Amino acid sequence: MSKSGPSSTDASRTHATTSRGGFSSSLGVLAATLGSAVGLGNIWKFPSLTGANGGAGFLLIYLLSTLFIGLPLMVAEIAIGRQARANPISALRQLQPRGAPWWLIGVAGMAAAFLIMAFYSEVVAWVFAYVAKALSGNLLSSDPVQTQASFDALVRDPVQALLWQWVVLAFIGGILLLGVTRGIEAATKRLMPLLFLLLVLLGGYSLTLPGAGQALSFLFAPEWHKITPAVVLTAMGLAFFKLSIGMGTMMTYGSYFTAEQNIPATATRVMLADLSVSLLAGMAIFPAVFSFGFQPSAGPSLVFITIPAVFAQMPGGSVLLAAFFLLTAIAATGAMLSLMEVPVVILHERWGLSRPRATLLTLLILGLLGAGCALSQSTLATFQPGGRTLFDWADYLSSNLLLPAGGIAIALFVGWAWGERAFAAQLSNHGQLGNQGLARVVSLLLRWVTPVLILLVMLAGLGVFSGA
Ligand code: TRP
Repeated sequence: MSKSGPSSTDASRTHATTSRGGFSSSLGVLAATLGSAVGLGNIWKFPSLTGANGGAGFLLIYLLSTLFIGLPLMVAEIAIGRQARANPISALRQLQPRGAPWWLIGVAGMAAAFLIMAFYSEVVAWVFAYVAKALSGNLLSSDPVQTQASFDALVRDPVQALLWQWVVLAFIGGILLLGVTRGIEAATKRLMPLLFLLLVLLGGYSLTLPGAGQALSFLFAPEWHKITPAVVLTAMGLAFFKLSIGMGTMMTYGSYFTAEQNIPATATRVMLADLSVSLLAGMAIFPAVFSFGFQPSAGPSLVFITIPAVFAQMPGGSVLLAAFFLLTAIAATGAMLSLMEVPVVILHERWGLSRPRATLLTLLILGLLGAGCALSQSTLATFQPGGRTLFDWADYLSSNLLLPAGGIAIALFVGWAWGERAFAAQLSNHGQLGNQGLARVVSLLLRWVTPVLILLVMLAGLGVFSGA
């Protein structure tokens, strides 16, 4: 992913300001973008939301949103970033028609980044804690009551919840302050295939469990009556969250793309790879749900209670379990670094803070906001304004409100303000690739279809049409 120092051979640097680096190779671009997309969204959010929202119908809407809303927006964001070679606020200021306020998208994006990281860092905290607990060997059990009790013991203990979050923040901060993001990226690149393999193994094993048939029909045979407007909004929100779009992450990463990179092809590859990780996680988890008597609607605890049950039967289960959560932690770290990058680069490039200072300030704000989420299951469990804990609010508001709203604004910007010619130039690398036809189609989509579709889904999901 990111650029703690400029790389001398980087072709993109001719466009960049002198202090900006960039991804150094085509493979690096792909790996970093994938590193942002793949994370807890696949292993934690995707299964728990699919389980809680009825299975196949939700999955279908999620797929459609990814294809027709997520992918065009991802392409749009990367194109904006690469054209401007700057943080989201500066990028939009640079490209917007004189005096128009499109740069506010960048401000909203920074707010969204903090909100997402506030709860995301707590889930990463649970993953870190599970690595440690798996190694000490007392997590494995195929008894739902027991695995749920282990999870509750962790999240309902305010001290553990807070301390593990601080461990995560210190870890991420350490990576950024030591300037070893490149090292982490290199490690991630090598370890992600391992996570993939482990998921294939787990999924394959899970499919031999007695509940596999039930799991497959849960995942792939839609029950249409379960698709409510709220379910559709949640599925669309997941598509935004999964592809890291709607708040400037992909714009920021786009600003580090090489000039030669084929943007639509990269985005499509990332989307497909990301989707396969999610589906594999589903294959690993849902057969266990139906075989051992878990509830698919268990919510945020789902992956933490089912995966230990799957490993319980295997030889070397404890070690494999620790490896699973370790690889998940690494994937989540890549995603978290991409979230951090948005406020850090804004504070750096616009406020003139040095990168280390920008990092420390971001971590400080995060420590304060994050504590509210960390304590949501313990000290603050009864604090539920409007029927949700702070954790749930941060999760709900970001995915179901801020990201889709950001998506509408980005689509409108590209469709109406930026101009199709500049957009097509980015998609085709100034005519070198044959993407002009595609640019035309995506441009029309972003102009007329995407914003209307997102708005309708949002209004319906929020109950505006039903008067709820
Ligand atoms: N996509 C990541 C995941 O699924 C999370 C993430 C990283 C993200 N950057 C983002 C989500 C920007 C929304 C916006 O784990």
